[in-house]
Amino acid sequence: METKHAVIVCDVLDCLKQIPDNSIQLIIADPPYNIDIAEWDSYDNYIEWASQWIEESYRVLSRTGNLVLFGGFQFENAGRGDLFELVHYIRSHTQLKLVNVIIWYYKNGISARRFFSNRHEEIMWFAKTKKYTFNLDDIRIKYDAATLELYKRDKRLNPDNLDKGKNPTNVWEISRLNSNSLERVGHPTQKPYAIIERLVKGLSSEGDTVMDLFAGSAISTRVCIETGRNSISCDKDPTTLEYAQDQLDRCINRNFTYSNAITHFVK
Ligand SMILES: C[S@@+](CC[C@H](N)C(=O)[O-])C[C@H]1O[C@@H](n2cnc3c(N)ncnc32)[C@H](O)[C@@H]1O
Repeated sequence: METKHAVIVCDVLDCLKQIPDNSIQLIIADPPYNIDIAEWDSYDNYIEWASQWIEESYRVLSRTGNLVLFGGFQFENAGRGDLFELVHYIRSHTQLKLVNVIIWYYKNGISARRFFSNRHEEIMWFAKTKKYTFNLDDIRIKYDAATLELYKRDKRLNPDNLDKGKNPTNVWEISRLNSNSLERVGHPTQKPYAIIERLVKGLSSEGDTVMDLFAGSAISTRVCIETGRNSISCDKDPTTLEYAQDQLDRCINRNFTYSNAITHFVK
């Protein structure tokens, strides 16, 4: 199946306003963390600003749709707006339902001296309704041969389920991208392919449309091409188009059309 992809240089709100109601299966939101790590990473009225793209996200999500929200917690300057406050806002002001808090655990990171070194980030999974899509069989983790053989001797366990593999659980051990990682295309906060792939495969189906509100490195474009989803990605920084080109060049699946205009999707 040929899929369509658009990467658009645009403010997130302007982009969302062009998307029809109930048309998106999965929204990936990895917004600025509001900790000044880059020019784009600071908002004076963070929650007020975020409330606008959250409301629009709810509108464009389909009935089976999901929204995943990346973020972090602030220790200094707490109260300026962080993931805690975004989640609180969503739960107290919208109909989105929290399905899972996914802990992304990694072993690589900087060492701290005044507190425990941080080794996790959170991904909040919200659904528009109780009829949300969850393709568990597409993201199960296979048992290794020795474990499978051992478990199959246990008559209490269903052999068909064992062959399918196990639920990945809500704690995912996936390395962060080191600065010299081959996956990197240049964006400072690029997320690993494996994280985005599990989200896209689990929370959307082939032929669906996935929207990335803060595309950055355009990694979600590449994942969507490789997994047969359509995608609309938005970032206000024009460098995203260069990152996107790099991601397209890396795709093994060439069965797609690409544009940097939203009209590619929305007439
Ligand atoms: C945390 S990064 C996203 C990284 C991305 N998930 C990845 O894996 O590469 C946040 C991105 O949001 C973009 N951004 C910040 N404010 C924006 C806005 N108002 N509209 C669109 N994009 C924005 C920044 O340019 C930055 O690339």
